[in-house]
Amino acid sequence: MLPTPLDALPTPSLLVDLDRLERNIAAMASAFATAGVALRPHVKTSKCWEVARRQLDAGAIGLTCSTAAEVAWLRGHGVADLLWAHIPIGPRKVEFVVGTALDGGGLTVSLDSVEAARPLSEAASAAGVTVPFVLEVNTGHARLGVDPADAVATAAGIAALPGLRLRGVLTHEGHISALADRPSLERAGAAAGGLLVEVAGALRAAGHHVEIVSVGSTPGATSTPFVSGVTEGRPGTYVYYDGNQIRMGSCGPDQCAQTVLARVASVRRVGRPIIDAGVKAMSSDAIAAAGGVGLVVDRPGVTFPEANEEHGFLHDGGTVPLPVGDLVRLVPNHACGTTNMWSHLYAVRGDQAVERWEISARY
Ligand SMILES: Cc1ncc(COP(=O)(O)O)c(C=O)c1O
Repeated sequence: MLPTPLDALPTPSLLVDLDRLERNIAAMASAFATAGVALRPHVKTSKCWEVARRQLDAGAIGLTCSTAAEVAWLRGHGVADLLWAHIPIGPRKVEFVVGTALDGGGLTVSLDSVEAARPLSEAASAAGVTVPFVLEVNTGHARLGVDPADAVATAAGIAALPGLRLRGVLTHEGHISALADRPSLERAGAAAGGLLVEVAGALRAAGHHVEIVSVGSTPGATSTPFVSGVTEGRPGTYVYYDGNQIRMGSCGPDQCAQTVLARVASVRRVGRPIIDAGVKAMSSDAIAAAGGVGLVVDRPGVTFPEANEEHGFLHDGGTVPLPVGDLVRLVPNHACGTTNMWSHLYAVRGDQAVERWEISARY
């Protein structure tokens, strides 16, 4: 029965603080609007319609997806402009993309090779549709993407295939998250944006129409989108932020909207209270290193260095022992990975849970 005090919720529970969520959405929307750059948030961080709807209401031009399930879910909500920032490889994804094109379109996919493009081209032309795509470019992350020097040749090869239409270029400047200090990170973010703009220029010079120059990450969200010539940004994690983003200097602890609520279950081991949440309740994926499973909120001196599946090991040094039954809130290292572990979350205002929101399109 909602609203209810946090004390009445089951533990562990996934919480999202509404004041922080609203501030994060408004701040990113305002920074992009001021710069005249379109914002297309990545939905993998929340997978929650109540969150995505708020991002769209704040001016996002559309949304970015990483999976077919996310695309299908958002099409079900009538979102007309989606970018699937992954390669639609294999017969099921090809069939799905062609199905969306037959069913009103609105989906742009990402490609980085003629080999991956060919089956999509064949299926699209057999169905009599044209699938729009962006060419993914590697600006340093070295995951997907053509190297800049190969972009013109690859774009020409893909654009020559029937049933496909080049709309622009895309990069994910994820490599900048490894940089230790914020000024270096921001310089690397701007350099990635500059490289993508150069590639867009080379494609235009080769005769292509390039309307989209798309960059995207939360650590890069203060630098990469604001390079002249970039048309849109796709940050995702900013909507909640997390422990990794604190370490990268993208946010402060008071901007982290996602927490896991847990209870102290045992204090038998002095200095090491055991809580009822472990690695099945939050992603310990510490991209920015620095270790630990998560950050303990509002408990100075208490750390969260290790966990089993349903048991978390806090360290309180034995100085300020946490009593059995006490509630603790933990900021996960990685918000997106944590989201994928839960089927629903509680939206919280102050110390009251006010709504229960579904999390959709998980594996
Ligand atoms: C292709 C792509 N775009 C955008 C993003 C959003 O980046 P972040 O999670 O840092 O906000 C990601 C995240 O992994 C991504 O893979």
